[in-house]
Amino acid sequence: MSDLDDLFSKNRAWANGVRTVDPDYFLRLSKQQAPKYLWIGCSDSRVPANQIIDLPPGEVFVHRNIANVVVHTDLNCLSVIHYAVAVLQVDHIIVCGHYGCGGVMAALDDRFDRGLIDNWLRHIQDVYRQHRDEVDALDTDQDKVNRLCELNVMAQVANVRKAPTVRRAWATGQSLSVHGVIYGLEDGLLKNLDVSVSGEA
Ligand code: CO
Repeated sequence: MSDLDDLFSKNRAWANGVRTVDPDYFLRLSKQQAPKYLWIGCSDSRVPANQIIDLPPGEVFVHRNIANVVVHTDLNCLSVIHYAVAVLQVDHIIVCGHYGCGGVMAALDDRFDRGLIDNWLRHIQDVYRQHRDEVDALDTDQDKVNRLCELNVMAQVANVRKAPTVRRAWATGQSLSVHGVIYGLEDGLLKNLDVSVSGEA
């Protein structure tokens, strides 16, 4: 346990700091959560949802996986979407990718000897196949990776839109928007990919 001593002491300092400013903060937050946002992002340690959008605990419901992929048969992601939409009734679902995504980079390297991850990367390779002419026409490897990062976000937004939970919400008049954004590791800024939708097209 001594390996984690640093983390426990950081945690105590953080909790004490929060309570100093607002003594009832944790008690209040423990009674309910009512986030407005569901964040679907990459597991990359450099893209922490709450910090990037500067929101405190309780404000954003989060799902993260390698390369922010929404797969139609991924019960984990679909359950998160279902709970966020049907129970928490979030107003917004944000799919957030990031430039220089290692998962997207790996997907462009068409190997099949890396183990389980190669199966997961197939989803991104499907996106690449659909946009191959556009991506291949770009000059540098970095440009190719970054464009595929954007295209991947747009594809995952489309997958969220088609999730039965989301379609059901729209069919019953629930207010819900789906957005695609991308984060720059080099400048810390989010860019809107302007693919937002608020209903069945
Ligand atoms: Co990534």
